[in-house]
Amino acid sequence: MRSIVCTRIAGALLLVYSTIVAAARAQSAVAVRGAPELESKRGVVACVERRAAEIGAAVLAEGGNAVDAAVAVAFALAVTYPEAGNLGGGGFMLVALADGRTAAIDYRETAPRRADERLFLDANGAVDSQRREFGHHAVGVPGTVAGLAEAHRLFGTRPWTELVAPARRLAADGLVVQPALAAGLAEYAVDLARFAASRAQFLHADGTPYDVGETLVQADLANTLRWIEEGGAAPFYDGPIAALIAAEMAHAGALLDARDFAAYRPVVRDVLVARFRGHELLLMPPPSSGGIALAQMLALLEPFALRERGGFDASARHLFAESSRRAFADRAQWLGDPEATAIPVEQLLSEAHLAPRRASIEPERASASAEFGPPVTETDAGATTHFSIIDGAGNAVANTYTIEERFGSKLIAPGTGFLLNNELQDFNPKPGRTTRDGQIGTAANLARGGRRPLSSMTPCIVRRDGEVVLVTGSPGGRTIISTVTQIVLDVLEFETPLAAAVARPRQHHGWFPDQIGIEQAFDPATAEALRRLGHVVQLRTRQGDAHSIERDPASGRLHGVADRRTEGWCAAPTGE
Ligand code: DON
Repeated sequence: MRSIVCTRIAGALLLVYSTIVAAARAQSAVAVRGAPELESKRGVVACVERRAAEIGAAVLAEGGNAVDAAVAVAFALAVTYPEAGNLGGGGFMLVALADGRTAAIDYRETAPRRADERLFLDANGAVDSQRREFGHHAVGVPGTVAGLAEAHRLFGTRPWTELVAPARRLAADGLVVQPALAAGLAEYAVDLARFAASRAQFLHADGTPYDVGETLVQADLANTLRWIEEGGAAPFYDGPIAALIAAEMAHAGALLDARDFAAYRPVVRDVLVARFRGHELLLMPPPSSGGIALAQMLALLEPFALRERGGFDASARHLFAESSRRAFADRAQWLGDPEATAIPVEQLLSEAHLAPRRASIEPERASASAEFGPPVTETDAGATTHFSIIDGAGNAVANTYTIEERFGSKLIAPGTGFLLNNELQDFNPKPGRTTRDGQIGTAANLARGGRRPLSSMTPCIVRRDGEVVLVTGSPGGRTIISTVTQIVLDVLEFETPLAAAVARPRQHHGWFPDQIGIEQAFDPATAEALRRLGHVVQLRTRQGDAHSIERDPASGRLHGVADRRTEGWCAAPTGE
Protein backbone atom coordinates (compact mmCIF):
# COMPACT_ATOMS: atom_id res chain seq x y z
CA MET A 1 0.00 0.00 0.00
CA ARG A 2 2.73 2.38 1.03
CA SER A 3 4.48 1.99 -2.29
CA ILE A 4 1.25 2.60 -4.19
CA VAL A 5 0.65 5.85 -2.31
CA CYS A 6 4.25 6.97 -2.88
CA THR A 7 3.97 6.08 -6.53
CA ARG A 8 0.85 8.17 -6.95
CA ILE A 9 2.43 11.23 -5.38
CA ALA A 10 5.59 10.86 -7.38
CA GLY A 11 3.56 10.31 -10.53
CA ALA A 12 1.70 13.56 -9.98
CA LEU A 13 4.92 15.48 -9.48
CA LEU A 14 6.55 13.88 -12.47
CA LEU A 15 3.65 14.79 -14.71
CA VAL A 16 4.74 18.40 -14.82
CA TYR A 17 8.34 17.42 -15.18
CA SER A 18 10.15 17.71 -18.45
CA THR A 19 13.86 17.52 -18.66
CA ILE A 20 17.09 17.93 -20.46
CA VAL A 21 19.79 15.40 -19.70
CA ALA A 22 23.43 15.22 -20.52
CA ALA A 23 23.92 12.80 -23.38
CA ALA A 24 25.81 9.58 -23.42
CA ARG A 25 28.87 11.39 -24.72
CA ALA A 26 30.49 13.94 -22.51
CA GLN A 27 30.92 16.79 -24.97
CA SER A 28 27.54 16.93 -26.63
CA ALA A 29 24.54 17.66 -24.48
CA VAL A 30 21.59 15.95 -26.10
CA ALA A 31 18.15 17.18 -25.31
CA VAL A 32 15.42 14.73 -24.52
CA ARG A 33 11.94 15.27 -23.21
CA GLY A 34 9.75 13.02 -21.16
CA ALA A 35 6.34 12.39 -19.66
CA PRO A 36 4.30 9.38 -18.63
CA GLU A 37 2.61 9.64 -22.01
CA LEU A 38 3.96 11.41 -25.09
CA GLU A 39 4.01 11.59 -28.87
CA SER A 40 7.04 11.83 -31.13
CA LYS A 41 8.22 11.09 -34.62
CA ARG A 42 11.83 10.76 -33.56
CA GLY A 43 11.61 7.67 -31.39
CA VAL A 44 10.19 6.75 -27.98
CA VAL A 45 11.41 4.72 -25.04
CA ALA A 46 8.70 3.55 -22.62
CA CYS A 47 9.96 1.94 -19.44
CA VAL A 48 9.58 1.66 -15.68
CA GLU A 49 12.09 4.32 -14.66
CA ARG A 50 12.74 7.89 -15.80
CA ARG A 51 16.53 8.06 -15.93
CA ALA A 52 16.80 4.83 -17.89
CA ALA A 53 14.19 6.10 -20.36
CA GLU A 54 16.16 9.33 -20.78
CA ILE A 55 19.40 7.47 -21.40
CA GLY A 56 17.68 5.45 -24.12
CA ALA A 57 16.17 8.57 -25.69
CA ALA A 58 19.60 10.23 -25.68
CA VAL A 59 20.96 7.28 -27.67
CA LEU A 60 18.14 7.74 -30.18
CA ALA A 61 18.83 11.49 -30.34
CA GLU A 62 22.45 10.76 -31.17
CA GLY A 63 21.43 8.61 -34.13
CA GLY A 64 21.36 5.21 -32.46
CA ASN A 65 18.64 2.77 -33.48
CA ALA A 66 16.09 1.01 -31.26
CA VAL A 67 18.51 -1.83 -30.47
CA ASP A 68 21.28 0.57 -29.43
CA ALA A 69 18.79 2.30 -27.18
CA ALA A 70 17.59 -1.03 -25.77
CA VAL A 71 21.13 -2.02 -24.79
CA ALA A 72 21.64 1.32 -23.04
CA VAL A 73 18.26 1.14 -21.26
CA ALA A 74 18.87 -2.42 -20.07
CA PHE A 75 22.23 -1.48 -18.56
CA ALA A 76 20.75 1.68 -17.03
CA LEU A 77 17.87 -0.17 -15.38
CA ALA A 78 20.42 -2.47 -13.73
CA VAL A 79 21.54 0.64 -11.85
CA THR A 80 18.31 2.58 -11.36
CA TYR A 81 15.82 -0.25 -10.86
CA PRO A 82 17.71 -3.00 -9.05
CA GLU A 83 14.59 -4.85 -8.02
CA ALA A 84 14.27 -6.15 -11.58
CA GLY A 85 16.63 -4.33 -13.96
CA ASN A 86 19.68 -6.49 -14.06
CA LEU A 87 23.03 -7.87 -15.05
CA GLY A 88 22.42 -10.94 -12.91
CA GLY A 89 19.30 -12.28 -14.62
CA GLY A 90 18.03 -13.04 -18.08
CA GLY A 91 15.29 -12.30 -20.55
CA PHE A 92 13.97 -12.07 -24.04
CA MET A 93 14.45 -9.36 -26.65
CA LEU A 94 12.21 -9.26 -29.70
CA VAL A 95 13.49 -7.14 -32.56
CA ALA A 96 11.56 -6.04 -35.66
CA LEU A 97 13.51 -3.83 -38.03
CA ALA A 98 11.94 -1.50 -40.55
CA ASP A 99 13.61 -3.49 -43.35
CA GLY A 100 11.55 -6.53 -42.33
CA ARG A 101 14.18 -8.50 -40.43
CA THR A 102 13.10 -9.96 -37.10
CA ALA A 103 14.81 -11.85 -34.27
CA ALA A 104 13.90 -13.38 -30.94
CA ILE A 105 16.97 -13.18 -28.73
CA ASP A 106 16.74 -15.70 -25.91
CA TYR A 107 19.06 -14.78 -23.07
CA ARG A 108 17.24 -16.82 -20.45
CA GLU A 109 19.34 -18.16 -17.57
CA THR A 110 20.51 -21.79 -17.61
CA ALA A 111 20.75 -24.33 -14.80
CA PRO A 112 24.25 -25.27 -13.62
CA ARG A 113 25.38 -28.35 -15.54
CA ARG A 114 25.52 -30.38 -12.30
CA ALA A 115 21.87 -29.59 -11.47
CA ASP A 116 19.08 -32.12 -11.70
CA GLU A 117 15.40 -32.28 -10.88
CA ARG A 118 16.09 -32.80 -7.17
CA LEU A 119 17.66 -29.34 -7.02
CA PHE A 120 15.25 -28.02 -4.43
CA LEU A 121 14.36 -31.20 -2.55
CA ASP A 122 15.58 -31.84 0.97
CA ALA A 123 16.71 -35.21 2.35
CA ASN A 124 13.07 -36.22 2.86
CA GLY A 125 12.09 -35.35 -0.68
CA ALA A 126 10.17 -32.23 0.39
CA VAL A 127 10.56 -28.93 -1.45
CA ASP A 128 12.95 -26.63 0.41
CA SER A 129 11.32 -23.26 -0.20
CA GLN A 130 14.18 -21.30 1.38
CA ARG A 131 16.62 -22.79 -1.08
CA ARG A 132 14.32 -21.94 -3.99
CA GLU A 133 13.86 -18.39 -2.88
CA PHE A 134 17.04 -17.08 -1.29
CA GLY A 135 20.66 -17.13 -2.13
CA HIS A 136 23.07 -19.35 -3.95
CA HIS A 137 21.17 -22.49 -4.93
CA ALA A 138 18.46 -20.69 -6.87
CA VAL A 139 20.86 -18.85 -9.18
CA GLY A 140 21.01 -19.73 -12.89
CA VAL A 141 23.80 -18.54 -15.17
CA PRO A 142 22.82 -14.95 -15.93
CA GLY A 143 22.17 -14.31 -19.62
CA THR A 144 21.61 -10.56 -19.73
CA VAL A 145 25.12 -9.37 -20.59
CA ALA A 146 25.55 -12.02 -23.30
CA GLY A 147 22.10 -11.25 -24.69
CA LEU A 148 22.73 -7.52 -24.90
CA ALA A 149 26.13 -8.13 -26.52
CA GLU A 150 24.47 -10.42 -29.07
CA ALA A 151 21.74 -7.87 -29.84
CA HIS A 152 24.41 -5.23 -30.32
CA ARG A 153 26.56 -7.50 -32.51
CA LEU A 154 23.60 -8.31 -34.77
CA PHE A 155 21.84 -4.99 -35.01
CA GLY A 156 23.71 -2.24 -33.15
CA THR A 157 25.07 0.83 -34.90
CA ARG A 158 26.67 2.82 -32.06
CA PRO A 159 29.89 1.87 -30.28
CA TRP A 160 29.29 -0.55 -27.38
CA THR A 161 31.20 1.64 -24.93
CA GLU A 162 28.81 4.50 -25.60
CA LEU A 163 25.87 2.32 -24.58
CA VAL A 164 27.38 1.02 -21.33
CA ALA A 165 29.01 4.25 -20.14
CA PRO A 166 25.87 6.13 -19.04
CA ALA A 167 24.92 3.28 -16.69
CA ARG A 168 28.45 3.04 -15.36
CA ARG A 169 28.49 6.78 -14.64
CA LEU A 170 25.16 6.61 -12.84
CA ALA A 171 26.45 3.79 -10.64
CA ALA A 172 29.69 5.63 -9.90
CA ASP A 173 28.25 9.12 -9.38
CA GLY A 174 25.23 7.84 -7.51
CA LEU A 175 21.55 8.25 -8.12
CA VAL A 176 19.03 10.12 -6.06
CA VAL A 177 16.67 7.52 -4.63
CA GLN A 178 13.10 7.90 -5.89
CA PRO A 179 9.95 6.73 -4.05
CA ALA A 180 9.64 3.39 -5.85
CA LEU A 181 13.20 2.32 -5.05
CA ALA A 182 12.93 3.54 -1.46
CA ALA A 183 9.72 1.59 -0.97
CA GLY A 184 11.25 -1.55 -2.47
CA LEU A 185 14.37 -1.32 -0.32
CA ALA A 186 12.28 -0.77 2.80
CA GLU A 187 10.13 -3.78 2.00
CA TYR A 188 13.10 -6.07 1.36
CA ALA A 189 15.67 -4.67 3.83
CA VAL A 190 15.51 -7.73 6.06
CA ASP A 191 16.03 -10.15 3.17
CA LEU A 192 18.83 -8.09 1.61
CA ALA A 193 20.57 -7.92 4.99
CA ARG A 194 21.09 -11.70 4.88
CA PHE A 195 24.00 -11.27 2.48
CA ALA A 196 26.96 -9.04 3.34
CA ALA A 197 27.52 -7.51 -0.10
CA SER A 198 23.80 -6.89 -0.63
CA ARG A 199 23.58 -5.24 2.77
CA ALA A 200 26.61 -3.05 2.04
CA GLN A 201 25.19 -1.94 -1.29
CA PHE A 202 21.59 -1.13 -0.39
CA LEU A 203 21.51 -0.43 3.35
CA HIS A 204 23.25 2.06 5.62
CA ALA A 205 25.74 0.79 8.17
CA ASP A 206 22.96 0.76 10.79
CA GLY A 207 20.85 -1.50 8.57
CA THR A 208 18.30 1.10 7.48
CA PRO A 209 17.54 1.29 3.77
CA TYR A 210 18.29 4.31 1.59
CA ASP A 211 15.39 6.71 1.65
CA VAL A 212 13.85 9.12 -0.87
CA GLY A 213 16.27 11.90 -1.79
CA GLU A 214 19.42 10.16 -0.57
CA THR A 215 22.18 9.41 -3.07
CA LEU A 216 22.93 5.75 -3.68
CA VAL A 217 26.44 5.12 -5.00
CA GLN A 218 27.09 1.59 -6.30
CA ALA A 219 30.88 1.46 -6.60
CA ASP A 220 31.27 -2.28 -7.22
CA LEU A 221 28.57 -2.12 -9.87
CA ALA A 222 30.38 0.78 -11.53
CA ASN A 223 33.52 -1.31 -11.59
CA THR A 224 31.70 -4.29 -13.12
CA LEU A 225 30.17 -2.00 -15.74
CA ARG A 226 33.61 -0.65 -16.55
CA TRP A 227 34.86 -4.19 -17.17
CA ILE A 228 31.88 -4.75 -19.49
CA GLU A 229 32.32 -1.38 -21.17
CA GLU A 230 35.95 -2.20 -21.96
CA GLY A 231 35.73 -5.94 -22.55
CA GLY A 232 32.15 -6.70 -23.68
CA ALA A 233 30.70 -9.98 -22.41
CA ALA A 234 34.08 -11.71 -21.96
CA PRO A 235 34.86 -10.42 -18.44
CA PHE A 236 31.45 -11.61 -17.37
CA TYR A 237 31.64 -15.17 -18.70
CA ASP A 238 35.37 -15.87 -18.95
CA GLY A 239 36.92 -13.34 -16.62
CA PRO A 240 36.81 -11.64 -13.25
CA ILE A 241 33.05 -11.45 -12.85
CA ALA A 242 32.55 -15.19 -13.45
CA ALA A 243 35.44 -15.87 -11.08
CA LEU A 244 33.97 -13.74 -8.29
CA ILE A 245 30.57 -15.40 -8.57
CA ALA A 246 32.04 -18.90 -8.82
CA ALA A 247 34.11 -18.28 -5.69
CA GLU A 248 31.03 -17.16 -3.78
CA MET A 249 29.09 -20.22 -4.98
CA ALA A 250 31.88 -22.62 -4.03
CA HIS A 251 32.07 -21.00 -0.62
CA ALA A 252 28.37 -21.74 -0.08
CA GLY A 253 28.53 -25.24 -1.54
CA ALA A 254 26.30 -24.34 -4.50
CA LEU A 255 26.54 -26.00 -7.90
CA LEU A 256 27.14 -23.02 -10.17
CA ASP A 257 30.78 -22.74 -11.27
CA ALA A 258 33.08 -21.03 -13.74
CA ARG A 259 32.54 -23.73 -16.39
CA ASP A 260 28.82 -22.97 -16.37
CA PHE A 261 29.62 -19.35 -17.11
CA ALA A 262 32.06 -20.26 -19.88
CA ALA A 263 29.43 -22.50 -21.49
CA TYR A 264 26.64 -19.90 -21.53
CA ARG A 265 25.32 -18.84 -24.96
CA PRO A 266 22.33 -16.68 -25.86
CA VAL A 267 20.18 -18.22 -28.60
CA VAL A 268 18.81 -16.26 -31.54
CA ARG A 269 15.50 -17.89 -32.40
CA ASP A 270 12.93 -17.36 -35.13
CA VAL A 271 10.08 -15.25 -33.85
CA LEU A 272 6.78 -17.03 -33.36
CA VAL A 273 4.23 -15.47 -35.71
CA ALA A 274 0.49 -15.42 -35.03
CA ARG A 275 -2.30 -13.62 -36.85
CA PHE A 276 -5.31 -11.83 -35.43
CA ARG A 277 -7.79 -9.49 -37.15
CA GLY A 278 -5.49 -8.75 -40.07
CA HIS A 279 -2.48 -8.15 -37.86
CA GLU A 280 0.73 -10.09 -37.55
CA LEU A 281 1.88 -10.70 -33.99
CA LEU A 282 5.58 -11.29 -33.42
CA LEU A 283 6.04 -13.34 -30.25
CA MET A 284 8.65 -15.20 -28.25
CA PRO A 285 8.86 -18.96 -28.86
CA PRO A 286 9.80 -21.40 -26.02
CA PRO A 287 11.35 -21.29 -23.48
CA SER A 288 8.76 -18.54 -23.23
CA SER A 289 5.30 -19.95 -22.68
CA GLY A 290 3.82 -16.54 -23.38
CA GLY A 291 3.98 -16.56 -27.18
CA ILE A 292 2.18 -19.85 -27.60
CA ALA A 293 -0.37 -19.13 -24.87
CA LEU A 294 -1.19 -15.67 -26.23
CA ALA A 295 -1.53 -17.03 -29.76
CA GLN A 296 -3.81 -19.81 -28.52
CA MET A 297 -6.02 -17.42 -26.59
CA LEU A 298 -6.50 -15.04 -29.49
CA ALA A 299 -7.16 -17.95 -31.88
CA LEU A 300 -9.76 -19.34 -29.46
CA LEU A 301 -11.41 -15.92 -29.17
CA GLU A 302 -11.37 -14.65 -32.76
CA PRO A 303 -14.49 -16.50 -34.01
CA PHE A 304 -16.51 -15.20 -31.06
CA ALA A 305 -16.41 -11.74 -32.68
CA LEU A 306 -16.30 -10.08 -29.28
CA ARG A 307 -16.61 -6.58 -30.64
CA GLU A 308 -19.88 -7.31 -32.37
CA ARG A 309 -21.22 -8.82 -29.16
CA GLY A 310 -20.48 -5.59 -27.24
CA GLY A 311 -17.58 -3.91 -25.43
CA PHE A 312 -14.94 -5.35 -23.13
CA ASP A 313 -17.75 -6.31 -20.76
CA ALA A 314 -18.55 -9.27 -18.53
CA SER A 315 -19.38 -11.47 -21.49
CA ALA A 316 -16.03 -10.73 -23.18
CA ARG A 317 -14.18 -11.14 -19.90
CA HIS A 318 -15.84 -14.51 -19.34
CA LEU A 319 -14.77 -15.73 -22.78
CA PHE A 320 -11.28 -14.37 -22.18
CA ALA A 321 -11.09 -16.30 -18.88
CA GLU A 322 -12.29 -19.47 -20.60
CA SER A 323 -9.64 -19.14 -23.30
CA SER A 324 -6.99 -18.52 -20.59
CA ARG A 325 -8.05 -21.61 -18.67
CA ARG A 326 -7.49 -23.76 -21.76
CA ALA A 327 -4.20 -22.16 -22.81
CA PHE A 328 -2.70 -22.46 -19.32
CA ALA A 329 -3.64 -26.15 -19.15
CA ASP A 330 -1.61 -26.74 -22.32
CA ARG A 331 1.20 -24.61 -20.96
CA ALA A 332 1.61 -26.83 -17.90
CA GLN A 333 1.49 -30.02 -19.89
CA TRP A 334 3.65 -29.22 -22.88
CA LEU A 335 5.98 -26.26 -22.44
CA GLY A 336 9.60 -26.10 -21.32
CA ASP A 337 13.08 -25.64 -22.75
CA PRO A 338 12.78 -26.49 -26.47
CA GLU A 339 16.31 -27.93 -26.45
CA ALA A 340 15.29 -30.53 -23.88
CA THR A 341 11.59 -31.12 -24.47
CA ALA A 342 9.80 -31.94 -27.70
CA ILE A 343 7.19 -29.20 -27.95
CA PRO A 344 4.45 -29.70 -30.57
CA VAL A 345 4.21 -25.98 -31.36
CA GLU A 346 2.39 -26.33 -34.67
CA GLN A 347 -0.08 -28.77 -33.24
CA LEU A 348 -0.80 -26.60 -30.23
CA LEU A 349 -1.63 -23.71 -32.55
CA SER A 350 -3.59 -25.79 -35.07
CA GLU A 351 -7.33 -25.60 -35.56
CA ALA A 352 -7.42 -29.39 -35.11
CA HIS A 353 -6.28 -28.84 -31.53
CA LEU A 354 -8.09 -25.58 -30.83
CA ALA A 355 -11.51 -26.16 -32.40
CA PRO A 356 -12.73 -28.76 -29.85
CA ARG A 357 -11.43 -26.60 -27.04
CA ARG A 358 -13.28 -23.61 -28.44
CA ALA A 359 -16.42 -25.69 -28.85
CA SER A 360 -16.27 -26.57 -25.15
CA ILE A 361 -16.58 -22.90 -24.16
CA GLU A 362 -20.08 -21.99 -23.07
CA PRO A 363 -20.92 -18.27 -23.39
CA GLU A 364 -23.24 -18.39 -20.37
CA ARG A 365 -21.42 -20.67 -17.94
CA ALA A 366 -17.95 -21.11 -16.44
CA SER A 367 -16.36 -24.47 -17.12
CA ALA A 368 -14.17 -26.29 -14.58
CA SER A 369 -10.40 -26.35 -14.86
CA ALA A 370 -10.28 -30.01 -13.82
CA GLU A 371 -11.85 -30.85 -17.20
CA PHE A 372 -8.54 -29.92 -18.79
CA GLY A 373 -6.19 -32.16 -16.87
CA PRO A 374 -4.81 -32.58 -13.36
CA PRO A 375 -4.79 -29.50 -11.15
CA VAL A 376 -1.82 -27.20 -10.77
CA THR A 377 -0.91 -23.75 -9.58
CA GLU A 378 2.32 -21.88 -9.41
CA THR A 379 3.35 -18.68 -7.70
CA ASP A 380 3.95 -15.55 -9.64
CA ALA A 381 5.36 -13.10 -7.13
CA GLY A 382 8.59 -11.47 -8.16
CA ALA A 383 10.25 -8.91 -10.30
CA THR A 384 10.67 -8.50 -13.92
CA THR A 385 10.49 -5.41 -16.07
CA HIS A 386 9.50 -4.70 -19.62
CA PHE A 387 10.44 -1.82 -21.90
CA SER A 388 9.32 -0.91 -25.39
CA ILE A 389 11.27 1.15 -27.92
CA ILE A 390 10.50 2.32 -31.45
CA ASP A 391 12.95 4.61 -33.22
CA GLY A 392 12.22 7.27 -35.83
CA ALA A 393 12.86 4.81 -38.68
CA GLY A 394 10.26 2.37 -37.36
CA ASN A 395 12.65 -0.23 -35.88
CA ALA A 396 11.17 -1.79 -32.77
CA VAL A 397 12.34 -3.62 -29.65
CA ALA A 398 10.21 -5.36 -27.03
CA ASN A 399 12.41 -6.42 -24.13
CA THR A 400 11.34 -8.20 -20.96
CA TYR A 401 14.04 -9.27 -18.50
CA THR A 402 14.02 -10.54 -14.96
CA ILE A 403 15.79 -11.73 -11.86
CA GLU A 404 12.56 -13.61 -11.00
CA GLU A 405 11.60 -12.25 -7.57
CA ARG A 406 11.94 -8.64 -6.49
CA PHE A 407 15.67 -8.20 -5.87
CA GLY A 408 16.15 -11.77 -7.18
CA SER A 409 17.91 -14.18 -4.83
CA LYS A 410 18.84 -11.11 -2.71
CA LEU A 411 22.44 -12.24 -3.14
CA ILE A 412 25.25 -10.07 -4.47
CA ALA A 413 28.54 -11.93 -4.89
CA PRO A 414 31.15 -9.78 -3.11
CA GLY A 415 32.98 -7.48 -5.50
CA THR A 416 30.41 -7.66 -8.32
CA GLY A 417 27.80 -5.09 -7.27
CA PHE A 418 24.71 -6.67 -8.82
CA LEU A 419 21.94 -8.94 -7.58
CA LEU A 420 21.82 -12.51 -8.80
CA ASN A 421 18.59 -14.09 -9.99
CA ASN A 422 16.62 -16.89 -8.36
CA GLU A 423 15.35 -18.00 -11.75
CA LEU A 424 15.82 -21.73 -11.10
CA GLN A 425 12.63 -21.33 -9.09
CA ASP A 426 10.85 -21.30 -12.45
CA PHE A 427 11.58 -25.01 -12.88
CA ASN A 428 8.88 -27.31 -11.52
CA PRO A 429 9.93 -27.90 -7.92
CA LYS A 430 9.09 -31.56 -7.54
CA PRO A 431 8.85 -34.18 -10.31
CA GLY A 432 5.45 -35.79 -10.60
CA ARG A 433 3.81 -33.63 -7.96
CA THR A 434 1.05 -31.53 -9.42
CA THR A 435 -1.36 -30.08 -6.90
CA ARG A 436 -4.56 -28.06 -6.93
CA ASP A 437 -3.10 -25.30 -4.85
CA GLY A 438 0.62 -25.84 -4.98
CA GLN A 439 2.91 -27.02 -7.65
CA ILE A 440 3.35 -28.20 -11.20
CA GLY A 441 5.38 -31.38 -11.50
CA THR A 442 5.02 -32.14 -15.19
CA ALA A 443 8.04 -33.48 -17.06
CA ALA A 444 8.27 -30.67 -19.58
CA ASN A 445 9.86 -28.22 -17.14
CA LEU A 446 12.10 -30.12 -14.75
CA ALA A 447 15.58 -28.87 -13.80
CA ARG A 448 18.51 -30.43 -15.65
CA GLY A 449 22.03 -29.23 -16.23
CA GLY A 450 22.15 -26.52 -18.90
CA ARG A 451 18.37 -26.27 -19.25
CA ARG A 452 16.44 -23.03 -19.39
CA PRO A 453 13.45 -22.86 -17.03
CA LEU A 454 10.07 -22.18 -18.61
CA SER A 455 9.19 -18.49 -18.61
CA SER A 456 5.98 -16.52 -18.92
CA MET A 457 7.64 -13.39 -20.28
CA THR A 458 5.72 -12.26 -23.35
CA PRO A 459 7.34 -9.40 -25.24
CA CYS A 460 5.10 -8.62 -28.19
CA ILE A 461 5.40 -6.62 -31.41
CA VAL A 462 2.38 -6.20 -33.68
CA ARG A 463 2.70 -5.38 -37.37
CA ARG A 464 0.13 -4.48 -40.00
CA ASP A 465 1.08 -4.71 -43.67
CA GLY A 466 4.67 -5.25 -42.59
CA GLU A 467 4.85 -2.11 -40.44
CA VAL A 468 5.12 -2.02 -36.67
CA VAL A 469 1.96 -0.65 -35.03
CA LEU A 470 2.29 -1.74 -31.39
CA VAL A 471 4.99 -2.82 -28.94
CA THR A 472 4.03 -4.14 -25.52
CA GLY A 473 4.93 -6.55 -22.72
CA SER A 474 4.80 -6.76 -18.91
CA PRO A 475 6.17 -8.30 -15.72
CA GLY A 476 3.99 -10.38 -13.43
CA GLY A 477 4.91 -14.06 -13.60
CA ARG A 478 2.13 -16.12 -15.12
CA THR A 479 -0.14 -13.07 -15.16
CA ILE A 480 2.18 -11.56 -17.78
CA ILE A 481 0.46 -13.66 -20.42
CA SER A 482 -2.97 -12.42 -19.36
CA THR A 483 -1.85 -8.79 -19.18
CA VAL A 484 -0.28 -8.78 -22.63
CA THR A 485 -3.15 -10.72 -24.20
CA GLN A 486 -5.67 -8.30 -22.67
CA ILE A 487 -3.87 -5.25 -24.06
CA VAL A 488 -3.52 -6.78 -27.52
CA LEU A 489 -7.17 -7.84 -27.48
CA ASP A 490 -8.28 -4.43 -26.28
CA VAL A 491 -6.34 -2.55 -28.97
CA LEU A 492 -6.92 -4.90 -31.91
CA GLU A 493 -10.41 -6.23 -31.19
CA PHE A 494 -12.08 -3.31 -29.43
CA GLU A 495 -9.94 -0.58 -31.04
CA THR A 496 -9.47 0.98 -27.60
CA PRO A 497 -6.92 3.83 -27.46
CA LEU A 498 -3.63 2.50 -26.05
CA ALA A 499 -3.66 4.62 -22.87
CA ALA A 500 -7.10 3.29 -21.94
CA ALA A 501 -6.11 -0.28 -22.81
CA VAL A 502 -3.03 -0.06 -20.56
CA ALA A 503 -5.01 1.54 -17.75
CA ARG A 504 -7.96 -0.86 -17.91
CA PRO A 505 -8.21 -3.09 -14.80
CA ARG A 506 -6.84 -6.53 -15.54
CA GLN A 507 -7.84 -10.11 -14.98
CA HIS A 508 -5.99 -13.40 -14.89
CA HIS A 509 -7.15 -16.96 -15.08
CA GLY A 510 -4.26 -19.43 -14.94
CA TRP A 511 -6.22 -22.72 -15.14
CA PHE A 512 -5.38 -23.50 -11.50
CA PRO A 513 -6.24 -22.15 -9.06
CA ASP A 514 -9.62 -22.24 -10.77
CA GLN A 515 -10.42 -18.57 -10.29
CA ILE A 516 -10.25 -15.19 -11.99
CA GLY A 517 -7.87 -12.78 -10.27
CA ILE A 518 -8.94 -9.16 -10.72
CA GLU A 519 -7.34 -5.84 -9.86
CA GLN A 520 -8.78 -3.56 -7.18
CA ALA A 521 -10.15 -1.10 -9.72
CA PHE A 522 -12.12 -3.80 -11.54
CA ASP A 523 -15.77 -2.86 -12.03
CA PRO A 524 -17.73 -4.55 -9.18
CA ALA A 525 -20.79 -5.11 -11.36
CA THR A 526 -18.67 -6.97 -13.92
CA ALA A 527 -17.10 -9.04 -11.14
CA GLU A 528 -20.58 -9.90 -9.92
CA ALA A 529 -21.69 -10.84 -13.43
CA LEU A 530 -18.70 -13.18 -13.70
CA ARG A 531 -19.63 -14.77 -10.38
CA ARG A 532 -23.15 -15.33 -11.67
CA LEU A 533 -21.65 -17.23 -14.62
CA GLY A 534 -20.02 -19.57 -12.10
CA HIS A 535 -16.53 -18.10 -11.74
CA VAL A 536 -14.69 -17.69 -8.48
CA VAL A 537 -13.47 -14.08 -8.58
CA GLN A 538 -10.59 -13.03 -6.36
CA LEU A 539 -9.20 -9.52 -5.75
CA ARG A 540 -5.46 -9.00 -6.38
CA THR A 541 -3.51 -5.84 -5.61
CA ARG A 542 -1.91 -5.09 -8.95
CA GLN A 543 -1.33 -6.98 -12.16
CA GLY A 544 1.50 -6.11 -14.48
CA ASP A 545 3.32 -3.00 -15.60
CA ALA A 546 3.01 -2.71 -19.35
CA HIS A 547 5.01 0.16 -20.85
CA SER A 548 3.85 0.26 -24.44
CA ILE A 549 4.13 2.23 -27.67
CA GLU A 550 1.87 2.43 -30.70
CA ARG A 551 2.80 3.71 -34.12
CA ASP A 552 0.70 5.19 -36.89
CA PRO A 553 2.24 3.74 -40.07
CA ALA A 554 0.80 6.53 -42.28
CA SER A 555 2.48 9.39 -40.40
CA GLY A 556 5.21 7.55 -38.52
CA ARG A 557 3.91 9.19 -35.34
CA LEU A 558 4.64 7.29 -32.15
CA HIS A 559 2.55 7.35 -29.00
CA GLY A 560 4.27 6.14 -25.86
CA VAL A 561 2.21 5.09 -22.85
CA ALA A 562 3.92 4.28 -19.56
CA ASP A 563 1.88 2.12 -17.23
CA ARG A 564 0.74 4.35 -14.35
CA ARG A 565 0.69 1.46 -11.91
CA THR A 566 4.37 2.36 -11.31
CA GLU A 567 6.62 5.38 -11.88
CA GLY A 568 6.79 4.46 -15.58
CA TRP A 569 8.10 7.07 -17.98
CA CYS A 570 8.34 7.76 -21.69
CA ALA A 571 11.23 9.72 -23.18
CA ALA A 572 11.92 10.96 -26.68
CA PRO A 573 14.52 13.12 -28.43
CA THR A 574 13.39 16.74 -28.35
CA GLY A 575 11.60 17.98 -31.41
CA GLU A 576 8.40 16.81 -32.97
O1 DON B 1 10.27 -15.79 -16.43
C1 DON B 1 9.26 -15.75 -15.78
O2 DON B 1 8.16 -16.06 -16.20
C2 DON B 1 9.30 -15.26 -14.34
N1 DON B 1 10.61 -15.45 -13.77
C3 DON B 1 8.89 -13.83 -14.31
C4 DON B 1 8.77 -13.31 -12.90
C5 DON B 1 8.00 -12.05 -12.85
O3 DON B 1 7.48 -11.58 -13.82
C6 DON B 1 7.86 -11.39 -11.58
N2 DON B 1 7.43 -10.01 -11.78
N3 DON B 1 6.71 -9.31 -11.33
